[in-house]
Amino acid sequence: MQQYGEEQLKFCQALPKVELHAHLNGSLRDTTIRELALKRNLDPALTKVIEMGDRTLSECFKLFDIIHRITTDHDTITRITCEVIEDFAADNVHYLELRTTPKTRSEHGMTKRSYTEAVLKGMQEAQQGSRGQNITVRLLLSIDRREDTAAALETVQLAAELHSRGIVGIDLSGNPTVGKWSAWEPALQEARRQGLKVTLHAAEVYNPEETAAMLHFRPERLGHMCCLDERLEVLHYNTGIPVELCLSSNIITESVASYPEHHFHPFYSAGHPVILCTDDSGVFCTSLSKEFAIAAHAFQLSNSQLWQLSEAAIDHTFLKEEEKEQLRKKFQIARATLEGCFPL
Ligand code: IMP
Ligand code: ZN
Repeated sequence: MQQYGEEQLKFCQALPKVELHAHLNGSLRDTTIRELALKRNLDPALTKVIEMGDRTLSECFKLFDIIHRITTDHDTITRITCEVIEDFAADNVHYLELRTTPKTRSEHGMTKRSYTEAVLKGMQEAQQGSRGQNITVRLLLSIDRREDTAAALETVQLAAELHSRGIVGIDLSGNPTVGKWSAWEPALQEARRQGLKVTLHAAEVYNPEETAAMLHFRPERLGHMCCLDERLEVLHYNTGIPVELCLSSNIITESVASYPEHHFHPFYSAGHPVILCTDDSGVFCTSLSKEFAIAAHAFQLSNSQLWQLSEAAIDHTFLKEEEKEQLRKKFQIARATLEGCFPL
């Protein structure tokens, strides 16, 4: 069933946007996945998983493993980075904070550093091309929950060393049923010491102890926060930590039962800072414009509320204050054009 009207979608496409929660390997074009699967002679049984429609959370992690089998070499990493940035730019995203997990693949001569360099190269190529000129991009390095303290520290060290080249923070992600907070906390503390910002995937599954520990850590942002009890909800509200909310992702992976029941509504109504994001636009067949249109439809948001939601995301980026100011000015210019076409 269509979750929004065509007019609503047109407005959301014209709206300038900020994307703060997008995983590189989850944001691949469908055509690129198919092309790479063919080139790598992927087992047809695995290709079937790619073609499957709605997926549970655990099926999504199987799909990530498959995608990782076809995005193995440096050139492919550079290519997909460039394509993903072009796709967000085409969706009128003015600022993108892309995240990815640096990988060691000795069979491809790949280290975490060379993987990250390949991503940085893709960022540079995109911004030099005509389709990536209107978008500003920064990178977050992700720690995968399967990683131990040493591996997490390696990623943080890499991010700190490459800070001046556009790496602004650290993310913690991966299968939420795997691993322990105590393994990554020292690395996340180190990230903070090094001046990096931190965002954590939190409460994707019900894990009150871990969620409380994450809130106690006070990251700059949190992702998802789907499974909270009343005590955690109050704790979270009191911290005021902004939340990256990914509607399609939460529905498709069955973390939330339906759009109207999504916790966007209580958070937004309480005035808690929320940011609409895609999570994995490739895996969930979505775009940031679609996520805005879904929110507009499910929660009866006006054009003016959508504008405010989009513009407020600038406050929660990991940019420096003067860079945020520049982005706000860009938004104001875009607003004049938008007002010429839609009531605001
Ligand atoms: P990559 O880091 O560029 O390889 O992007 C894919 C990876 O992002 C996955 O293997 C997960 O570790 C992580 N990821 C993507 N979506 C989710 C999510 O919904 N929850 C937790 N982790 C995720
Ligand atoms: Zn995510």
